[in-house]
Amino acid sequence: LDPELDLFAEIEKLKREKNAVILAHYYQEADIQDIADYIGDSLGLAQEAQKTNADMIVFAGVHFMAETAKILNPSKKVVIPDFKAGCSLSDSCPPALFQKFKEQHPDHVVVSYINCSAGIKALSDVIVTSSNARIIVESFPKEQKIIFAPDKNLGAYINKVTGRNMLLWNGACMVHEIFSLEKITKLKHQHPNAKLIAHPECEEPLLRMADYIGSTTGLLKFTKEDTATEYIVATETGILHQMEKASPHKKFIPAPPDNSCACNDCPHMKRNTLEKVYLCMKYGMPDIIMDEQLRLAAKKPIDRMLEISA
Ligand code: 13P
Ligand code: SF4
Repeated sequence: LDPELDLFAEIEKLKREKNAVILAHYYQEADIQDIADYIGDSLGLAQEAQKTNADMIVFAGVHFMAETAKILNPSKKVVIPDFKAGCSLSDSCPPALFQKFKEQHPDHVVVSYINCSAGIKALSDVIVTSSNARIIVESFPKEQKIIFAPDKNLGAYINKVTGRNMLLWNGACMVHEIFSLEKITKLKHQHPNAKLIAHPECEEPLLRMADYIGSTTGLLKFTKEDTATEYIVATETGILHQMEKASPHKKFIPAPPDNSCACNDCPHMKRNTLEKVYLCMKYGMPDIIMDEQLRLAAKKPIDRMLEISA
């Protein structure tokens, strides 16, 4: 690519030429968030993908998110800046293994976190995101037996707040499991007025310490409305961009990871760059192509979620 190219201007031009909309997750790098037409959490992004009139959906996020957009709005071209942008949580639940697990528990309904492949969605009764998991689980009668997949941390958190005893698939997000409780405790001593806010994909001991737990949209909203001026943020660092923009007078400290060589950037989310956004729009690829039978089977539990969350 010509280093002189003004990618912001070129992307704006392509948006008009191709009638394209850019949907970005909060974990995307700041430049991508700044050029996006909509930034949101997984639920907001799915709702936006479902209702858009654009011809091309540019999904600046990871594969399962772009796939969900295609499932919901199949007549649109859905492009993703980097096809290799996967998700450790989604990868932790292969459909063939999950199918066997499900067969061992025929009296259970399957509630799956949206961070999973279309194959898992097709095996599920309802999909949830971190912002609606609680109300959707509570919409089942108390005695209903439930399998929750693939995130054991979100599942354990929902079990705790609802008093349920869902059977949990043993999956986790690599980003939300690296935080160091010891370093967070030290930070809290150095910043006694800072509030710890955490995503429910974090492990239980961290969540126990948190002042607020929520989806990315929930965390952002909390920092806008809350009166504190300092926050330790236990989730992927991309969200700090919108927090700092919305509350420039407040201080946001990323929760420190266990190992100083590690960082709480999601390696999958961060595969996407502005340059790749430009290229996928220009060439209309890579794009999501789906088997129609799988798409229809995966759509059913997503529709059910969207109906409950409308
Ligand atoms: P939400 O933005 O829905 O909270 O999801 C977080 C996440 O890990 C997405 O990959
Ligand atoms: Fe998957 Fe975790 Fe990255 Fe989200 S942050 S895409 S759950 S690996």
